[in-house]
Amino acid sequence: MTKKLDKNFHDMDSFYKELIEEHMDPNRPKSMEGDIVDVLLRIKENGTTSFELTFDHIKALKRCSVNGYEIGGGSTVYINAWAIARDPATWEHADEFLPESFLESDLDPRGQTPELIPFGFGRRGCPGIGMAMAEVELALANVVYKFDWGLPVGMKEEDIDFEVLPGITMHKKNDLRLLAKLVIA
Ligand code: HEM
Repeated sequence: MTKKLDKNFHDMDSFYKELIEEHMDPNRPKSMEGDIVDVLLRIKENGTTSFELTFDHIKALKRCSVNGYEIGGGSTVYINAWAIARDPATWEHADEFLPESFLESDLDPRGQTPELIPFGFGRRGCPGIGMAMAEVELALANVVYKFDWGLPVGMKEEDIDFEVLPGITMHKKNDLRLLAKLVIA
């Protein structure tokens, strides 16, 4: 039994070794770009993890140790997305509603940079990213393009509050009330 297990392990290990080598080949097929092995190899190369990512982690076949924690093969690992989104090393005022904090940022929400993962990360990350990004952009672009937006009579800019509700993602506590004037039908 142990012999069989050893053999299986070696077979799988060489399979993953080959897969990694194929991904590292400069003439690799374009279809390999952006897949999980490619993403992990890039993270390994950039050294952006707080621990040393090895080829063994990428093969992810056996136990691995992350920051001193032993993780057995096949474990279900829950990622604390709430804490990642509020990491003071990345976000200066994480608890405030500040959409402009994304403007100057190089972080890619499409599962490329682990500091910003609205669509999850890795092989179980959201497969609908392309559609979702296009939909959100289209909806927002339409409301901005088709209407002139103003404040209700008697309300000043400084009256707009930025209070948020607690939760993983940020929702406004009080509705934002605006006046929309249709400019393009
Ligand atoms: C703004 C919109 C969206 C957001 C924020 C979002 C976010 C997410 C997140 C966080 C996950 C879990 C990823 C993980 O476990 O690491 C997920 C999974 C998934 N999403 Fe989305 N998603 C969006 C739109 C869509 C759309 C438009 C589709 C399909 C057309 C879609 C299909 C899926 C599917 C099938 C999964 C499960 C993937 C798996 O478990 O392997 N999502 N999404």
